[in-house]
Amino acid sequence: MSKAIKYKVEIIDRNTSYVKALSELHAICFRGKGKEYWNDQSFRVLLGAKGTIGFSATADDCSLLGFVIGRSVMDESEVLTLCVLPTARRNGVAKNLMLKLIKRLSPSKRILLEVATSNDPALALYESLGFKQSGRRPAYYKKGTSRIDALILEL
Ligand SMILES: CC(C)(COP(=O)(O)OP(=O)(O)OC[C@H]1O[C@@H](n2cnc3c(N)ncnc32)[C@H](O)[C@@H]1OP(=O)(O)O)[C@@H](O)C(=O)NCCC(=O)NCCS
Repeated sequence: MSKAIKYKVEIIDRNTSYVKALSELHAICFRGKGKEYWNDQSFRVLLGAKGTIGFSATADDCSLLGFVIGRSVMDESEVLTLCVLPTARRNGVAKNLMLKLIKRLSPSKRILLEVATSNDPALALYESLGFKQSGRRPAYYKKGTSRIDALILEL
């Protein structure tokens, strides 16, 4: 449940009409952070792919506050992206989205994700959910002229 703001969490329909809202929020969260941000078509393809599942968090006025997308292949799953609107952060939105996704992916033997070593909010969130480091990709993200390692976390 949210602490201070009201929102509902739902599965993102494969034929969702709000890919534009997804790509806009993705860009807000990842532009300049060394990660590629995805356009409308990327989301259309991703959500249409076998094994992909996403959850969105929307406010009463139907505006998008956050979303998470994961994918299962055989008995392994991956969290592909997670983002929350800056003004909606620290309300439990990401944790709620992650818990829904983890429940859905839980038949998998393991759930993996990648996170930049510099991303303290995300690292704190994943740690609170029980993720543990299982690897490291040196210089995986590009930020300006420097490179940042990615940690591979596993649940
Ligand atoms: C990381 C992100 C998704 C967190 O979203 P959020 O909705 O603010 O997170 P929550 O409110 O659910 O936080 C749950 C817990 O995670 C930890 N946490 C989240 N943000 C934190 C921060 N800025 N500082 C410290 N801990 C933080 C806390 O333990 C928090 O619990 P608490 O609020 O009771 O202390 C959000 O900051 C974001 O969209 N960042 C940009 C995109 C991104 O980095 N995505 C992850 C890529 S791997």
